[in-house]
Amino acid sequence: MIYPLRRAALAALLLGVSATAMQAEMMAATAPPDAPKFDAQVEPVYVNRSDIAEFKALPAYSEPAWVKAFVDAGKLPPVAERLPKEPMVYKTANMPDGNGVYGDVMRHVIGGRPEGWNFWAGQTYGWGGIDIALVECLTRTGPLFEVNAADLQPMPNLAKSWEWAEDGKSLTVHLIEGAKWSDGDPFDTEDIDFYWNDVVMDPEVTPLMGASQETYGVGTTLDIIDAYTFKMNFTTPFPEAVLYAMAYGNFCPGPSHVLKPQHPKYGGKSYAAFHDAFPADMMNFPVMGAWVVVEHRPDDIIVTRRNPYYWKVDESGQQLPYLDEVQYRLSTWGDRDVQAVAGTGDFSNLEQPENFVESLKKAADPSSPARLAFGPRSIGYQLFFNLSANGWGEPDARAQAVRELNRNLDFRKTVTYAVDRQRIGDSLVKGPFTALYAGGLLTSTSYYDPASTVFYPFSLDSAKEALKAAGLEDTDGNGVVNLPGGEDLNVTLLVNADYATDKNVAEGVVAMMADVGVKVTLNSLAGKDYDNAREGGKHDWYIRRNDQEFVSVVQGISRLAPTGPATATWHYANAKGELDLLPYEQKLVDDITAFNSTQDAATRADAMKDYQKTFTENVNAVGLTAYPGALIINKRFANIPLGAPIFMYNWAEDNIIRERVFVPADKQIGAELHPGELAGKLGEGTIKAE
Ligand code: GLA
Repeated sequence: MIYPLRRAALAALLLGVSATAMQAEMMAATAPPDAPKFDAQVEPVYVNRSDIAEFKALPAYSEPAWVKAFVDAGKLPPVAERLPKEPMVYKTANMPDGNGVYGDVMRHVIGGRPEGWNFWAGQTYGWGGIDIALVECLTRTGPLFEVNAADLQPMPNLAKSWEWAEDGKSLTVHLIEGAKWSDGDPFDTEDIDFYWNDVVMDPEVTPLMGASQETYGVGTTLDIIDAYTFKMNFTTPFPEAVLYAMAYGNFCPGPSHVLKPQHPKYGGKSYAAFHDAFPADMMNFPVMGAWVVVEHRPDDIIVTRRNPYYWKVDESGQQLPYLDEVQYRLSTWGDRDVQAVAGTGDFSNLEQPENFVESLKKAADPSSPARLAFGPRSIGYQLFFNLSANGWGEPDARAQAVRELNRNLDFRKTVTYAVDRQRIGDSLVKGPFTALYAGGLLTSTSYYDPASTVFYPFSLDSAKEALKAAGLEDTDGNGVVNLPGGEDLNVTLLVNADYATDKNVAEGVVAMMADVGVKVTLNSLAGKDYDNAREGGKHDWYIRRNDQEFVSVVQGISRLAPTGPATATWHYANAKGELDLLPYEQKLVDDITAFNSTQDAATRADAMKDYQKTFTENVNAVGLTAYPGALIINKRFANIPLGAPIFMYNWAEDNIIRERVFVPADKQIGAELHPGELAGKLGEGTIKAE
């Protein structure tokens, strides 16, 4: 093939200088630049886990008077019979405002929509804290933001304790005894059995957050010992990551007494029928969470009412939660910010920088109904390359050619050099918020090490050099580089349409890539469609707001590298289960394995240093921008812990421990939509005491 004169060479000829002298070199990678100082952070009050809660029986229990009326009317057993033998007791000393009073509502606004209540078959509830409130898990990690480093381990929750075997190859887990689902059915190892054998281990069923056997380690098995005890057996000693994989998103068992009869193994019609068996308009789905769904008006609101069987109390014996109702307005994520500062909504994770200035201005007014507190820089966006070249997502010839390029370091360098992170950050918000993000671990994790972080500075010349080194040139002079076959290179960038920020960041990337001759077309999809395209490998590149693993390392660690067929969001296995890892990806996997196979802090820190170096040096993903988020919460709420970040081990909806949040009597607003009502039978209406 005869190439036309390279443009650089032509220019050199015209200028009378030699082409080799013109050949620019790629700029050297550097250490990551210092992030602008951002002082608006409040430190948490650090405690040990046992300072927060314990499991014990109290001499007496109480409940709101209006719930007691149900007991008096014979519609509910007495509170002491509804509670477990030893409920979880939140300690007063750890409550910022002490034991609370009953009543009032938290009015959330969310951008997602409920598909149905079968979380275990993959249905979303719409995010924004609704699933976090309905679904309880064996352990809990949200509140760990305030736990001393020396005591850092998941908190007990439905699992009240656990012990490792001497050789670390098995873990015996003790469930809370005598806790009940919101419809009064006992919670016990039948629920664990169903979750493990018929959800996790059933290849036809994928729970919402994708838990699979690999989440707990390849080869892990589970034995039921008795009604409240089970044992997990591992192939490696002391896989502590399992305790994190028991927290929100993963080991959150569903109500087997209603799920099981719909599962095809036990007489259910089909897997599709199982998936759809609990549609979003079916009320009173049994939960272990503090509130039960009693009303859903599509695109309008979901109303949840207190769970009379909730298994947590305060030290004075008051059954939790304190809030009688929690509402979720079905709107947009941007509207959540607007409503929270206006006082028509109660809560927002201010996570879209486009809303920072306006929200800060409003919140600074002393008469503002809401308080706003910034946390660490724990929100980050990365651009990921689809690194599978063996069929994930069934690419056509064009997509396959892009995949091959994605696997070429020079091509990935083109992208990172071409990204002007300063411009991306400034386009979202001016000021000290956004930082130039190298990719990989965020600075907010204790495992972040700047010396192990490789940063490729913005340089169009370097990007162009890298492009040449990757063998790409604009052979037809139309401003777009061509593939060896002659066609223009056209890359599809998948982006989440639910957030203005995702869209703005993506548009910035498209423009910057055009500057070096790489044509990028956006594929902007909302909600589940975005997730399905990403998890289905239907993309060349995608932009994603980081999940917990890049913020905390320990929570969701299996997603930090392709440790299994479907763990790392950028590289799943093909239909045959084969993963074609690049050598550096194998190193990432080895680092995660090294981290997981030791309890030694220094070895773990080293493993993560190596991980970060390998990740950033090889441009596994392109860091785009990182910034802090702020928690906006209405001033009438008490017991909001100091320094609760909007995102760390989990989202703020978990971090603030909503079941302990209350509104002092003189501040209650009387906004309940179902006062005096409790959830009725599955699929029916609410019930009243009279
Ligand atoms: C969405 C929101 C987050 C948070 C989570 C909770 O992702 O964007 O701020 O509310 O839901 O799952």
